[in-house]
Amino acid sequence: MKHTLSLSLLAMILAGCASTPSPKMVADLNDEARKTAGGMIQTLGGELKAAMTAGGPAEAIVVCKEKAPKIAAEAAARTGMRIKRVSLKNRNPKGVPDAWETEALAGLEQRLAAGEKPETLDTHSVVNTPDGKVFRYAKALVMQPVCVNCHGAAENLSPEVKAKLATEYPEDKATGYTPGMIRGVLSIKKSL
Ligand code: HEC
Repeated sequence: MKHTLSLSLLAMILAGCASTPSPKMVADLNDEARKTAGGMIQTLGGELKAAMTAGGPAEAIVVCKEKAPKIAAEAAARTGMRIKRVSLKNRNPKGVPDAWETEALAGLEQRLAAGEKPETLDTHSVVNTPDGKVFRYAKALVMQPVCVNCHGAAENLSPEVKAKLATEYPEDKATGYTPGMIRGVLSIKKSL
């Protein structure tokens, strides 16, 4: 019993002392997260545009549904980071923000309201979790004119888009947005 206790105590002490990452290490992680997010947004935007041109928004839904997670999984495999998209008004039922992401979203909304350019809206921090320190990063995904086809006012969506969304996302909350609004965040995590 004594032995077990001291071991668990030792484990706790070690976990508590898990070295705080240096400012340089955090800055490097932030650079990597930014590059990863930027690359993903570019790839996804390109795929979306191509699919929209080829088949219109109803056909392009599959890009958001299947290509987005695939692009995220590829980037994750390359970088060891965990990547997802979340929103307060999520379309994918799994796209619900956690506490850190909710706070990040609120902060980004405030910066947008204060006049900051949408392109620079991102944030990061190192948080303590029961499993150790985790680097967290969130980048605002801002509504562009093209996004309105699938995230704009529900009454303005094409009948085909409306029908597809109703079948594939019966719990959809992700409509009613106009260009310039924050649609959600690209959220990146890396255990340290
Ligand atoms: C062709 C329709 C379509 C267009 C255009 C589109 N989206 Fe989406 N979007 C979707 C679908 C479908 C999902 C759900 C994908 C899934 O199943 O994960 C989604 C999910 C998202 C999510 C993840 C959170 C959630 O609600 O589940 C974000 C963030 C997002 N879109 C932002 C954008 C932005 C920003 C644009 C414009 C650059 C855009 N979308 C353009 C259809 C679209």
